Amino acid sequence: MNPEEFFREITLRICSSLDIKVVLTRCFEYLELHFPLDEIALDIYDSQLSAIRRIAHVAASGKRVDEIVPLPENVWNWVRNLTEPMTMTASTDLPVAQATAPLVMREGNSDLVVPLSIGKKKIGLLILRAYGDEKYERKHLNLIKIVSEPFALSLSNALAHEELLNYSNTLLDDNTFLQRELSSGLDEEIVGRDSGLRNVMDMVRQVASLNNTVLLVGETGVGKEVIANAIHCSSTRKEAPFIKVNCGAIPDSLIDSELFGYEKGAFTSANKDKRGRFERANTGTIFLDEIGELPLPAQVRLLRVLQNREIERVGGSKSIALDIRVLTATHRNLEQMIREGKFREDLWFRVNMFPIFIPPLRQRREDIPALTRWFVRRKSKELGLRKPPAIVPGALDRLVKYDWPGNVRELQNVIEREIILFEGGPLEFRSLLPGSEELKSHSFHKEPNLPEPVRLDEAMALHIGKVLAFTKGKIHGPGGAAQFLDINPNTLRSRMQKLGIK
Ligand SMILES: Nc1ncnc2c1ncn2[C@@H]1O[C@H](COP(=O)(O)OP(=O)(O)OP(=O)(O)O)[C@@H](O)[C@H]1O
Ligand SMILES: [Mg+2]
Repeated sequence: MNPEEFFREITLRICSSLDIKVVLTRCFEYLELHFPLDEIALDIYDSQLSAIRRIAHVAASGKRVDEIVPLPENVWNWVRNLTEPMTMTASTDLPVAQATAPLVMREGNSDLVVPLSIGKKKIGLLILRAYGDEKYERKHLNLIKIVSEPFALSLSNALAHEELLNYSNTLLDDNTFLQRELSSGLDEEIVGRDSGLRNVMDMVRQVASLNNTVLLVGETGVGKEVIANAIHCSSTRKEAPFIKVNCGAIPDSLIDSELFGYEKGAFTSANKDKRGRFERANTGTIFLDEIGELPLPAQVRLLRVLQNREIERVGGSKSIALDIRVLTATHRNLEQMIREGKFREDLWFRVNMFPIFIPPLRQRREDIPALTRWFVRRKSKELGLRKPPAIVPGALDRLVKYDWPGNVRELQNVIEREIILFEGGPLEFRSLLPGSEELKSHSFHKEPNLPEPVRLDEAMALHIGKVLAFTKGKIHGPGGAAQFLDINPNTLRSRMQKLGIK
């Protein structure tokens, strides 16, 4: 056998595929012509398990073998120190051959064991097996030795490839999970779609299938985000990403890199490329909430994106074309801001092509009863109550008459607090309407055994105690006392400490 031709042929077969099983099968077919050969295997050293892990195995008979062979410590060390190919049979008089023989079922077989390493790094073994005793000779050892290096490379590539595949599968999995998390809440119930929000929903239906920019205008808490979700979900982009950006929540200095991403080296801490929110929203929808909060320089750049549908990353030199639907929202009066020079008129023309006004709750009082029932049901479920509390006759009327400066969100909060304070009892909404005259007297009447007037500290301690009793001591997280009291959990803890609440 011409060694050069042998090397060439094996190398070609090794390079013929990324799939290590395919590679090994092709090598088997060739080696079979020059070696006694019934099985061939590639094993790696798995230091974590102190074991030999079989990465690929081909047998003429098609039979399978164990994929992981844990080794006793001394054998493991010895195997790891192999540098030269050697033959082993059941009668080989070496301690390691004796120790491994039963583990690898060597009885009645001859093995040609070839250690594989890259540089100093020992990575595994190539094993040729022929059925029968003493099948391998010196010439086989010499020949196989020539190709140990290409086999080592192929094994190492296969491992790297496997790792990449695992990695990318994990990422895919994470991504699907996160997308699902993000879109949970997207199919949220819209109460009032056929009454107070009928006009709004008509407009949603008109624009949903188009690609135009939409501006959602309305007071705080009216449901701008709910409507943005609805537009995305009834559009053809509903399976694609829906990326929300609260323009008011990003510090001015970070806006550009958040929205447009950056390229490695754009600034000192940019040690790798990063996609911005626009790129992440590609093929889907981006929702620019509180667009009135965008600083003027960012408004200029946003205008360019809206005109050209392409972005440039910070520090980048090429434009990236985007297929994107832009939804925006504001509770501010943008026209007023234009007059004050705080909002660019040219940007306003772009975003204001299809404005949707979401009326405040006081202008659609007919929705209040349905919203109340819906929130009572939902909150009770979240709080783990067996059944939603009843609403006292006349209580709904009180809610309908109230002016709701905080709109739907305020209604939702009021209901949540009422359910907690009344511990599952019927809801009256007497005490909780902020600003209502009854509030001031009512809370004292609720505590007949308190000397009046109480110190603020005492009232606070009592109230916190009640809420804690309701949440069964849970302080933070959903359904925790901090959430109900609408304060930061750490603030609550330190206040409890001060007031001596355990
Ligand atoms: N029609 C509706 N049906 C059910 N829930 C609603 C409705 N409108 C608003 N909500 C609820 O009220 C809360 C406030 O709504 P949302 O966040 O959409 O308001 P917003 O206008 O974006 O407020 P902000 O200006 O404060 O950002 C949310 O919890 C939302 O789920
Ligand atoms: Mg909002």
